[in-house]
Amino acid sequence: MPVDKSYLTDETKSVRYWADLLGKDFGVAINSSATTNATQSAVTAAAFNTIVAEWEMKFANTEKTRNVFNYKEGDALYKFASENGMKLRGHCLVWHESVPSWVSSDGIKNDKNWTREELLKVLKNHIMNVAGHYKGKVYEWDVVNECLSNDQSIIKTNSSGYTMRNTVWYDVIGEDFLDSAFVWAHRADPDAKLYLNDYGNEKWSDAKSKAFLNLVKSMKRRGVPINGVGLQCHYNYNNLDSTEIANTVYEYKKLGLELKFTEIDLSMQNSQFYSDEQWEEQARTYRVLANICRLRPYVTGMLVWGLSDGQTWVNSTAAGTKGQPLLLNYFYGAKPGYEAIRRVFRDKVIDSGILSPSEERVARDNTVYDLTGKPRYVTDDPKSIYSLPKGLYIYNGQKYIVK
Ligand code: G3I
Repeated sequence: MPVDKSYLTDETKSVRYWADLLGKDFGVAINSSATTNATQSAVTAAAFNTIVAEWEMKFANTEKTRNVFNYKEGDALYKFASENGMKLRGHCLVWHESVPSWVSSDGIKNDKNWTREELLKVLKNHIMNVAGHYKGKVYEWDVVNECLSNDQSIIKTNSSGYTMRNTVWYDVIGEDFLDSAFVWAHRADPDAKLYLNDYGNEKWSDAKSKAFLNLVKSMKRRGVPINGVGLQCHYNYNNLDSTEIANTVYEYKKLGLELKFTEIDLSMQNSQFYSDEQWEEQARTYRVLANICRLRPYVTGMLVWGLSDGQTWVNSTAAGTKGQPLLLNYFYGAKPGYEAIRRVFRDKVIDSGILSPSEERVARDNTVYDLTGKPRYVTDDPKSIYSLPKGLYIYNGQKYIVK
């Protein structure tokens, strides 16, 4: 597969260009080291408009020691985002993984013998400090991540039921750790959008999807300040059904909530080499998610969980090989899935009349075109147009008349 890096030199070849025009968040999980790596930083800023910390803004890294806060990596990510006109998404304030050992050895056991009151104080202090520090920098938080048990057989006997995951937070504090976390996050940063994030909540036929919706409904009934839900979308390249996803997504429209595909990776399986048909199948699945995002204003965006197939957490089942689940290959070349998303967003832009096909070409290439659309020259200074012969010229989508 040839390495297509045209998104680096022609903005209309990047999904970012079209996502920006649509006002959709199109993001990627990275580590702060990517912001000082020449290749990774250039690729990230060209190909995406939103970043999220893969692990550096989690509890274990932001409060390694009780009441001592570390924002170094998160601040580096924010600096990079703001320098490149990007958004920084927050992930995550409360989870049972990436919990520092002074809270719990594994995020499940209460082996520090916290009382409910003490652990509430720990959690409140963490959220108020971290969400407070990133106020005005992080536009949206995964406040609580993966709080539901994978076993939601309760649905069989109670259609509005759900089973919480046993974690140190839930077991010691009770379910109101969830409500409190959202209330504190909202108090710390009233402008940030607050999301509940999980996996296995994507396909409508899965019990966990119904349980997740039931939990969200109960949070809404309790007046919890929740703005949106995250569907992580960790799947294989060929097992995501569009109707299944669309049915789930629709439920959140009915609740008046936003929704994001927050951690997409679509893993290939069992081999190191794949056919064009298999890459096309992976692209088709990415297209499914992009179409759902394109057609629904309340689906605010989609993020992939890793910059390139060289930076994925997913190992394929073939020993020693990676699942190659992402949009850019090992050489940061755009894969069929990246191009599939670009076309979906581009077509939406053109269908919406936001940008006509001809403007698509002219949009922002600093080229002066004459009335026939013929390129005359490239300039950074549009005033130079007035030294041209009388006529009408187009430059970066603007019309210039020389009398
Ligand atoms: O702790 C070391 C640190 O000391 C060292 O400097 C650094 C060097 O890279 O590595 C650090 O470690 C690991 C980190 O990934 C970076 O590789 C952490 O030990 C390890 O726990 C961490 O794993 C992350 C995991 O979440 C737990 O935070 C994965 O990268 C990340 O992909 C994964 O992401 C989760 C989402 O947050 C939630 N949904 C599932 C998803 C996949 O598990």
